[in-house]
Amino acid sequence: MEKIIINGSKRLNGEIAVQGAKNSVLPILVATLLIDGVSVIHNCPCLSDVDATIKILTYLGCRVTREGHTVTVDARGVSKNDVPETLMHEMRSSIVFLGGILGRTGKAVLSTPGGCEIGLRPIDLHLSAMEQFGATVKTENGLIICSAGEKGLTGTKITLSFPSVGATENIILAGVLAKGTTVITNAAREPEISDLADFLNRCGARIHGAGDSTVTIEGVNKLCSTEHTVIPDRIAASTYMIAAAVTNGRICLKDVIPSHIGPAVQPLREAGCDVRVSGRWVCLSAPPRLHRIRMIRTMPYPGFPTDVQAQIMALTSVCEGTSVIVENIFESRFKHIGELIRFGAKISAEGRMAVVEGVRKLYGANVKATDLRGGSAMIIAGLCAEGTTQISEIHHIDRGYEKPEEVLSFLGADIRRVKDDEKIDSE
Ligand code: UD1
Repeated sequence: MEKIIINGSKRLNGEIAVQGAKNSVLPILVATLLIDGVSVIHNCPCLSDVDATIKILTYLGCRVTREGHTVTVDARGVSKNDVPETLMHEMRSSIVFLGGILGRTGKAVLSTPGGCEIGLRPIDLHLSAMEQFGATVKTENGLIICSAGEKGLTGTKITLSFPSVGATENIILAGVLAKGTTVITNAAREPEISDLADFLNRCGARIHGAGDSTVTIEGVNKLCSTEHTVIPDRIAASTYMIAAAVTNGRICLKDVIPSHIGPAVQPLREAGCDVRVSGRWVCLSAPPRLHRIRMIRTMPYPGFPTDVQAQIMALTSVCEGTSVIVENIFESRFKHIGELIRFGAKISAEGRMAVVEGVRKLYGANVKATDLRGGSAMIIAGLCAEGTTQISEIHHIDRGYEKPEEVLSFLGADIRRVKDDEKIDSE
């Protein structure tokens, strides 16, 4: 077990490149299952969720090699259609294998993913979509058994009651090789959906409208080998901008897609940060004391991302004045509040609403990462706090951030990763 140790109150300053997007690379790697050939995926971040996805692809019969940030998947030897429970549980978003395996082999057997740190996370929309393609879906003994039958999957019209990111991805994955045309209404519009569609279209798929709420998929017979570069991670980019903001810092992110981080930039400007965009660069310069952010409501893209809610809460805890944060996407995504309070933050919550009374200073604390983004909120609080912070359970953070301690040290933070039993020197 490892910990992150931070000696806080160091101003961040400098330029960084942002890692490839975790939420793009996972469905894209799953999509390689549908290709009768070799896929070369560039800009794959080194994350434990990517490792877990590669393990599942290998189990299914793919030959996967990895060199730096490039992953090559040869899916010609796919021979299995199930994902063992142990592999399934390594990564919550493994439900996206449903559409990939079903589309490739005509049958998928997965274990039910169950709830996780941020809520129940039901999969009813995924299962009902597969049924609408003509598949039969049975759930027994904790397994989901999904079969396309003799006729195979047939394109259909699917209306999502909520624009679920994972369900939209599963429908695209199942639809690209289905017979006929599939139309998704109320599809998720996240940039990662467009990235998945761009990858598949390069392989010969015919997906139109990805990124809009109506997506049309004309089924094709076969997909061919291709290369693709994953988009930059808008959540990691937003996290590093917030980290700079709480330290009165100045940071430039190079090679990002500014429109993707727009929803997080607007509240940072409200807090008094000067954010400038030029081409594929975004630079943020923070004032000595941040102003409150009146109201933040998490919403599907292009609204404020739920994946940045914990980090912005850490920021509002040191703003001048009171901020209100409403979490509309996941029902229990406030576990970080208890940990932020250990730093001296003043936060109260009821249901989906949190009220954050900004304090002048946070003080270093021993805390844990409650989940992936909650963990990055601990890093942000530790960076601005006075004194030493120890963060445990950092395996959550490693699911989504590639070597955050190296990125932040490069920007001037005093942060390091230690083994659990290592002696810790504070300042
Ligand atoms: C994806 C992201 C995650 C992000 C989330 C919302 C990946 C790997 N993960 O997760 O980082 O926080 O989008 O932007 O891309 N729902 C149902 N039934 C379903 C499916 C979803 O009720 O069948 C509900 C969920 O419980 C949740 C909401 O819909 O309340 C949003 O979930 P969804 O968009 O599906 O999130 P994920 O795809 O799981």
